[in-house]
Amino acid sequence: MSYTGSRYDFHDKHADYARLAQELAALLAGESDPVANAANAAALIFDALPEVNWAGFYFLKGGELIVGPFQGKPACVRIALGRGVCGTAAAQRRTLVVPDVHQFPGHIACDAASRSEIVVPLIHHGQLKGVLDLDSPQPARFDAEDRVGLNAAADLLLQSSDLAL
Ligand code: SME
Repeated sequence: MSYTGSRYDFHDKHADYARLAQELAALLAGESDPVANAANAAALIFDALPEVNWAGFYFLKGGELIVGPFQGKPACVRIALGRGVCGTAAAQRRTLVVPDVHQFPGHIACDAASRSEIVVPLIHHGQLKGVLDLDSPQPARFDAEDRVGLNAAADLLLQSSDLAL
């Protein structure tokens, strides 16, 4: 089975996120290794979503966020809670949609091409496990439907994986 972006155009975001969730669930089924599942989730999301230049995970380890599986340019490795978009979303335990990263105080630029960003915290049984982070070169790329769809994807990863990281 191939996962090609051409099968998704996201003109109907609701329908395409529903399909993406189905594919992700199938991809993760029967596997609980967190690195394997995060790697395949990042690859599927990056391949499926248009106008995305970075998609991946940071995991909470030793009180800070450390980069995990991702697709895109090399990224900064460690992010303190409360720093950048990732650290802020993690500390506040809420999804942050940033239409213009240049206007976000303390934004950490891993790829100079990034203009907008969405960060979904990974919360498992009340515990912060990390974040799912997506960047786009397009301003205001992410909206409320992306928030819902990517939260659903994050939930699938959390449910399928042994996140005792
Ligand atoms: N922009 C993020 C840093 C991670 S990269 O985008 C991959 C931030 O401000 O936290």
